[in-house]
Amino acid sequence: PVPGMGMALEPLGLPGLLLALLLLLAAVCLRSRRCRRPGEPPLIKGWLPYLGVALQLHKDPLSFIKTLQKQHGDTFTVLLGGKYITFILDPFQYQLVNKNHKQLSFRQFGNKVSAKAFSTKKLLENDDLDEDIHSAYALLQGKYLDVLLENMLQHVKQMFESQLLKTTNWSTTGIMQFCSSLVFEITFTTIYGQIPSDDRKNIINELRDDFLKFDDKFLYLVSDIPIQLLGNVKSLQRKIIRCLTSEKLDQLQGWSEIVQKRQDILEKYYTREDFEIGAHHLGLLWASMANTIPAMFWAMYYLLRHPEAMEALHDEIDRLLQSTGQKKGSGFSIHLTREQLNSLVCLESFILEVFRLCSYSSTIRLVEEDLTLNSETNNYCLRKGDLVAIFPPVIHNDPEVFEAPEEFRFDRFMEDGKKKTNFYKSGKKLKFYIMPFGFGTSKCPGRYLAVVEIKLLLVVFLTYFDLELLDKKPVRRGQSRLLFGVQYPDSNVLFRYKAKARS
Ligand code: HEM
Repeated sequence: PVPGMGMALEPLGLPGLLLALLLLLAAVCLRSRRCRRPGEPPLIKGWLPYLGVALQLHKDPLSFIKTLQKQHGDTFTVLLGGKYITFILDPFQYQLVNKNHKQLSFRQFGNKVSAKAFSTKKLLENDDLDEDIHSAYALLQGKYLDVLLENMLQHVKQMFESQLLKTTNWSTTGIMQFCSSLVFEITFTTIYGQIPSDDRKNIINELRDDFLKFDDKFLYLVSDIPIQLLGNVKSLQRKIIRCLTSEKLDQLQGWSEIVQKRQDILEKYYTREDFEIGAHHLGLLWASMANTIPAMFWAMYYLLRHPEAMEALHDEIDRLLQSTGQKKGSGFSIHLTREQLNSLVCLESFILEVFRLCSYSSTIRLVEEDLTLNSETNNYCLRKGDLVAIFPPVIHNDPEVFEAPEEFRFDRFMEDGKKKTNFYKSGKKLKFYIMPFGFGTSKCPGRYLAVVEIKLLLVVFLTYFDLELLDKKPVRRGQSRLLFGVQYPDSNVLFRYKAKARS
């Protein structure tokens, strides 16, 4: 099954039912009597005590939020799983979240999520650890990114030469299986290094399968459902952590700078043997894979469904390879720098269009003290303890900003051979119109690496393979990620590939 697809409907079994009953009881007893105070945004509590609007949101987050926007305007508060979340949907007001970053913090919220999902408990009480870990994210960018890309290129070359380039007859597979196995192995090896064992392939495959099962339950994990009630998630979590302890990492060859630095930092705060060191590495592993895998799926899917895009990308890549004196067709000979990958305007536009359609990443902040958000048009009072959310899919799908937003148009983000950055709403130029990587202090530090990886893989597929979609019916976005990250598809898609005949 496609990871992520089952989660939404999967029954929780007897413990889950008991929990549901408990929640209902608690809700009846504790039902919030909260009423909207003067100056506060409209309040939507839904018809379910405690859960609030959870069911409607779960069914189709984007449609539901857009409906609420029509009814209540760009700012409103909803009750969701016992929490009150104020949505800010006007893109000209996103900056308010940054401006008030002292009262609207990410740290506490982020570390709570991390403690639940990965068991990184010390982060909750140790600010220095949190700061040190954040400072190491610089090692995913700038000159360190060039080294990461160079290493990634070598792993890709090795993987393709040993397996995929030998596929000279058509081979059929699901896009999701194909992308998850490629992205997992390439990302893992680039960040954590090679597994020096004859059994390397089996080890990495088992780790990937465990990771996908774990990720499938991620939303349950970060909810308030006690982990003990989530079936085998806890044991999966521990199993993956056991593969990432100091002892296990020592066996890997070729750590990236960020892993080296992270390990140094962690050994400052924990003993080397502490299991929680592995929990931190699970956090990085999850961040590096959980969105990159489905994003790669959608990139391949749209590429295969849109021959006009494939042709334009082919031409652009051919031109680059010719101008840099690289011939295709003779083994895996291409070599690309970050600057060269970034010079591919059409490829960049294609990837942004993929993100526009599949990314549901929200930016969430905790209101640390009561405050009033002052904007040109409105002032809103926010209560301490509530959450604030920016939900970019609303702007990504706004017909005023993107004509026919439901259509995939690979060249939306290019104009006169250059990257297009002029997008307007209500006659005003937008600063934020495409936001797959979050915003402000919590913006994804791995965004350049993710984009470079997707670009590199697309260049390699287009250069060395014939590709053909076999399932013609369109696939829709699933909703299993709710408001967090790149959505998985709601069904699998078959395609076939074979290495191009060498010239
Ligand atoms: C298509 C791929 C990716 C997407 C769409 C994506 C998206 C995001 C988003 C939206 C956030 C912010 C979450 C928030 O505000 O709560 C984030 C955080 C993060 N991402 Fe990515 N990401 C991707 C790939 C990667 C990769 C490859 C890495 C690298 C190793 C990475 C590392 C991180 C880390 C460490 C954080 C946490 C930052 C913090 O705690 O402040 N991401 N990502």
